[in-house]
Amino acid sequence: MPIPFNDIKAQLASQEQALREAFERVLARGWYLMGPETEAFEQEFAAWVGTRFCVSLNSGTDALILALKALGCEGGEVVLPAFTALPCYHAVLAAGCIPVFAEVDEQSYCLSPQSAARMITEQTRAVIGVHLYGHPCDLDSLEDLCRKRGVAFIEDCAQAHGAVAGGRGAGTVGELAAYSFYPTKNLGALGDAGAICGSHVEADQALRRLRQYGESKRYECVIPGVNSRMDELQAAFLRERLKHMDRTTAERRMLAEIYDEGLAGLPVITPTVAEGCEHVYHLYVIRSQRRDELAAFLAARGIGTGQHYPIPGHKQALFTDGKVPFRADELGLTERMAAQILSLPLFPGLETEQVDEVCTAIREFHQG
Ligand SMILES: Cc1ncc(COP(=O)(O)O)c(C=O)c1O
Repeated sequence: MPIPFNDIKAQLASQEQALREAFERVLARGWYLMGPETEAFEQEFAAWVGTRFCVSLNSGTDALILALKALGCEGGEVVLPAFTALPCYHAVLAAGCIPVFAEVDEQSYCLSPQSAARMITEQTRAVIGVHLYGHPCDLDSLEDLCRKRGVAFIEDCAQAHGAVAGGRGAGTVGELAAYSFYPTKNLGALGDAGAICGSHVEADQALRRLRQYGESKRYECVIPGVNSRMDELQAAFLRERLKHMDRTTAERRMLAEIYDEGLAGLPVITPTVAEGCEHVYHLYVIRSQRRDELAAFLAARGIGTGQHYPIPGHKQALFTDGKVPFRADELGLTERMAAQILSLPLFPGLETEQVDEVCTAIREFHQG
């Protein structure tokens, strides 16, 4: 039997009835935007993350754009890792800022505080710490750096719902924390959705205006805004899925442990967890000197894999063609990583025997 890289239907199987009831509830109520489901989700998610507020939005990309705008970053530079998901640098551009690419850390694969420090200048308005693959970035060092240099710290929690670093939850440290609920995320909607969490009252108010036409109240607009509302259906689905997060995160960790054991001793680099951190394994990513051959070998056995991410920010044609300005640090590790990373199947609902099968195939590849 083939082993898919991801299977959202399998992930949802145990929640199907509750999701149907959520749909029925919204349909029967006849209230589809900015209603009781959205309000309840915002409260429940803020409580779960541990922040004072949550502003629900249309996507994780919008969450980054509106966070940058709410913190007054437009026109300035924003330091972010070169090794991250493509929407991160598009969000920086869409917010009217210049991306400044910094290096990642060898252990966590998240933004290196030392590299970020080198790239901060008078023009810097914010640093975006992306919690990549579910491993939290070095929250203490980045918070300290941003405070000392007088720039905003934004957390990108799109891949790290529930991760912990040094006893503090991802999403609770930065001025604002951006979340994506894209269907494959650890907390996924059945379509596009996102949110920003934070604790400063002014940011809460600014974000609520920005997400709906810049309105201070109905039909009165005070700032340029957008339409980035989360709809009631997605909020209702997310409320149901949030109830299962502890269980699904535990399942992700259990599957990762089986991979760690099954791949031990092989010539691949498996994920490491920095001291004091709790990884939530949005992705299980190994590094191999023979990545493309290995991916082809696994594909021939019906095993799906992914590459997150094969082209780093500063190597995207958008930047190399000179179409938009950017700055970059020395990015040797980022470039090596892009050529080596391979994401293996890991999702709630994946059988432990299937993980064993993937490990066996990787072992056989190296023996062959
Ligand atoms: C790290 C990171 N940031 C931001 C985003 C953007 O989220 P969305 O797809 O909901 O716009 C994603 C999702 O791909 C992501 O992985």
